[in-house]
Amino acid sequence: MAYTVPKLTDYSPSALEKSAAECIRALSEEASAVHNDAGLKAFRDRWLARKNGILTQINDLWLKGAPKESKRNAGIRVNELKVRIQELVEGAHVSAAGETAAERIDTSLPGIRRPIGAEHPVLRASREMCAVFQRMGYAIAEGPVVETDYYNFEALNFPPNHPARDTQDTLFIAGQQSKPQRERLLLRTHTSPVQIRTMEKLRPPIRIVIPGVVHRNDPPDASHSPMFHQIEGLAVDTDITFGDLKGTLDHAMKEFFGSSVKTSFRPSFFPFTEPSAELFISCIICGGSGKRDSDPCRPCKQTGWIEILGCGMVDPNVFEFVKDNGYDPRKVSGFAFGMGADRIAMLKYGVDDLQLFFHGDVRFLEQWA
Ligand code: DAH
Repeated sequence: MAYTVPKLTDYSPSALEKSAAECIRALSEEASAVHNDAGLKAFRDRWLARKNGILTQINDLWLKGAPKESKRNAGIRVNELKVRIQELVEGAHVSAAGETAAERIDTSLPGIRRPIGAEHPVLRASREMCAVFQRMGYAIAEGPVVETDYYNFEALNFPPNHPARDTQDTLFIAGQQSKPQRERLLLRTHTSPVQIRTMEKLRPPIRIVIPGVVHRNDPPDASHSPMFHQIEGLAVDTDITFGDLKGTLDHAMKEFFGSSVKTSFRPSFFPFTEPSAELFISCIICGGSGKRDSDPCRPCKQTGWIEILGCGMVDPNVFEFVKDNGYDPRKVSGFAFGMGADRIAMLKYGVDDLQLFFHGDVRFLEQWA
């Protein structure tokens, strides 16, 4: 119902106030419904037209019609109301420019923050670990994710049908049976094939780190994923020793996890290194005590030590495959290592479920923004 100016019978201050408030409410509603120039003109005429505009009607009905004793009081109210009506009709001017009051830009408000991406925590940990080695003079090398049997296994001293292949549950590319075995394609199970590919291209001495994605046929759980990330390392020169391996990796762990971290090397086996070792670091969660307050420390299974990587001295059989590019096993020696980038990210950032890294939940990922 469109607003019409009522006749007043009660001229008490409270009644005048109430009538003025009703009038202003009607005006505000009409003002917010104005969206174009024609609407604005009609609105202005309705309220301000000298001849029979609402303001004029108020003047006639509320002021002229007031009994003598209320005239003064009614005059004050009507004047206040007039000013207010004029102000509000002015304000409606802006609405007519095509914006409603709510859309008007208030430059005093803070701006709208646009979400920008963050580096993924696994890639960040990987980059930071690579940077530790880059500061020691290592270069970055990369290789293909779809690899041949030759680079993934054979040249790394896993002979065809050797049981050591069973330690890496491999995803094979279909339809390769017609090819000789060494040419058959698979998803690389580790970044180690890039050792061979790089030694084919670069003559010794070399020092490289190899970040990359790898695949294994492992069902996903809190510590496994069919797709995960590794960082490989390789140093080859004329007289590299196991002491160089230990010193380099000890330094890298302290740089990455903090200077109080201790390292422990334990015997192991990999076909492409001899001797081989696993590197453990003192648990960065419990500080090596095996306990968190009085509870058992889960990440280190109460042992105080966490396995971080596999490593060893490059097996002479591996050098045989790249001998023609200057890697004569009687002249050069080297060490290699490989670690899980996802795992070091979990440890460094205190993430207890590997799957969180791959769900793409922005609430989780934006913690690294
Ligand atoms: N490629 C091994 C794996 O994925 C890790 C590894 C162990 C890499 C020893 C190395 C090494 O370079 O020397 O299980």
